[in-house]
Amino acid sequence: MENFIFHTPTKFYFGRDTHLQAGEILRQYGAKKVLFYYGQGSIFTTGLHAAVSQSLQMAGVEYVEMGGVKPNPDVEFCRKTAGFIQAQGVDFLLAVGGGSVIDSAKMAAIAVASGADPWDITTGKAEAKGALPLGVILTIAATGSEGSDSAVLTNETLGQKRGFSHQLNRPRFAILNPELTYTLPPYQTAAGITDIMMHTCERYISLSGENKLLDGMAEGLLRAVIDAGRQAMAQPEDYDARATLMWAGMLSHNGLMGAGRKYAMTAHKLEHVLSAMDPSVAHGAGLAVIWPAYLKYIYRYDLARFAQYGARIWGCAPDFYHLEKPALAGIEATEDYFRSIGMPATLRELGFTESQIPAMAAACSQNGRLVLPALIPLDEEKMAEIYRLAL
Ligand code: NZQ
Ligand code: ZN
Repeated sequence: MENFIFHTPTKFYFGRDTHLQAGEILRQYGAKKVLFYYGQGSIFTTGLHAAVSQSLQMAGVEYVEMGGVKPNPDVEFCRKTAGFIQAQGVDFLLAVGGGSVIDSAKMAAIAVASGADPWDITTGKAEAKGALPLGVILTIAATGSEGSDSAVLTNETLGQKRGFSHQLNRPRFAILNPELTYTLPPYQTAAGITDIMMHTCERYISLSGENKLLDGMAEGLLRAVIDAGRQAMAQPEDYDARATLMWAGMLSHNGLMGAGRKYAMTAHKLEHVLSAMDPSVAHGAGLAVIWPAYLKYIYRYDLARFAQYGARIWGCAPDFYHLEKPALAGIEATEDYFRSIGMPATLRELGFTESQIPAMAAACSQNGRLVLPALIPLDEEKMAEIYRLAL
């Protein structure tokens, strides 16, 4: 067991109708002026905007609104948000949406409290010194941003996407009502399922050997998500399936699954290049393409782990004398599952071409300066080989 610090101060309100408590919860936190913050309009068609407004009004909470956050949120909109917060004297943020809305809120909250530009904070040029308090109403089970210490911003001008991890990113509270996810388009449900799985899978590909406790937790979570994912795709209003996905999404990325082992979010880094080059690429869809290619490249550097991955997560027949068999069967089962829920399997399906691969590898390696940790270190050339396997 490796040393770790695990501190997750977020308070979760889980279950049916919990979103109706938003106003009362904010009042209890002593919020004086709230920013009710959302995405591109789904909350109007689902009726959530009206429900949250009513909850805030009934609790007597003063608020202002700002909508329009795009998926893969651009830093320019985050800057506008920070300006709006300052101009309006907002002292508490309520992000209502998915990872994009939450992340844009997180970085605006830090930018304002730190008196710095949000992009400079993500790149480390400016220091995160504080954050306005943030609450969340989650509408998609996917990123785990509702409980995570990270936020991801895109800089469309530079064509870059950067994650920023810091304790200041943890929301004060998060409201998780699985019923709010019934209205998701199937593609977004599937992208979310993929992302949830990837947050645990990336940690499962341990860089510090076996850890029976973490392995068992990860395998249990993944088997439950695989089942619930199938069920939610078939029956979008299956409460238990949606509830499993929603809570698993939080558990998968709040740090629990990695506390005690070394790991690297390498497939995430390879994916972020795709959604930075084309912000219409959903993060989960990019991962569905990258993950099998990444595994095909690295599995031979820890055959036992990948044999375990195939046997325990995907139910592939163990073979003690030919570990490669369950390892490869596990990778194939992963690909089949992603296809079965409607995810793309190749870069071409996402609209990329072979000629873009050198640019992808250059972006991911920051022009050759960065080597990504994995079972073997991945330099620019190896990154290009993985992108080619994903073509
Ligand atoms: O904008 P609206 O109109 O709300 O529509 C959204 C958006 O188009 C829609 N949607 C969300 N809930 C809905 C709904 N439509 C109908 N009914 C609902 N209940 O779904 C679309 C996708 O939303 P988005 O927030 O972009 O999805 P997601 O939660 O997957 O977030 C993706 C972003 O989070 C980052 C990703 O890179 C990407 O930028 N990540 C953040 C992480 C973190 N902070 O810890 C970790 C992740 O690995 C990830 O990198
Ligand atoms: Zn992710």
